[in-house]
Amino acid sequence: MADERLIVALDYHRMEDVKHLVGLLGDSVAYYKVGMELFYSVGGEVVRWLRAQGKHVFLDLKLHDIPNTVAGGLCSLMHLGADILNVHASGGYTMMHTAAQKLHAEAKAAGMPCPKLIAITVLTSMGQDDWQKLGQAAPIADTVVRFARLAQQAGLDGVVASPREAEMIRKACGADFLIVTPGVRPAGSSLDDQNRVATPAAALQNGATHLVIGRPIRAAADPRQAALTILKEMETVK
Ligand code: C5P
Repeated sequence: MADERLIVALDYHRMEDVKHLVGLLGDSVAYYKVGMELFYSVGGEVVRWLRAQGKHVFLDLKLHDIPNTVAGGLCSLMHLGADILNVHASGGYTMMHTAAQKLHAEAKAAGMPCPKLIAITVLTSMGQDDWQKLGQAAPIADTVVRFARLAQQAGLDGVVASPREAEMIRKACGADFLIVTPGVRPAGSSLDDQNRVATPAAALQNGATHLVIGRPIRAAADPRQAALTILKEMETVK
């Protein structure tokens, strides 16, 4: 069975590209991430199609609005069958708490498994300069941990974080908290536009529960071989 800790990012806008990559990767990959680019262009069809192939789906739409609107949006997405949904922690405790409560209630009423709900703490693209321009005085790392704790108190299941932040979040939030990390690069591969990266094994050692990997697999000459090499490295950390 495929290692469900690997989530491959489907950063496409056409279903035919999705079908081609999922076909190439076959049973080596069980989990896919659908983001804004793909969802805004093809809609719920991609989630339903992936579920029909027996795949798990992290629907990465990063909701951020008033509590009632976010909760309603998540309930709509839940019916598509996604396994992980997410919101911005900067929407606040009440937004996260309301979202988690309503999502659980909706899943129960529908007799469906409740998707995991995770939070974005601070976007990893945020630099110190942009951060200060927002009027923030505390170091970004302090805010990341504060937001992760707040998400946990609000009843969320985990966070999205850079592999370098995973260790401090694991310490702050304990063993059962999901930590989903993008910015993962096998040793020797291109960084693309990622800056603060870690290898698959290092990200897992730092406490990540899931790795989101896109271009190192998608853009490889042989995507299946690239995935298998990454999976082999992941096997060294259980
Ligand atoms: O191609 P690559 O492995 O860099 O893809 C990483 C995926 O994770 C992309 O879909 C990207 O949008 C997403 N992501 C990220 N950094 C974040 C949050 C999401 O790279 N902080």
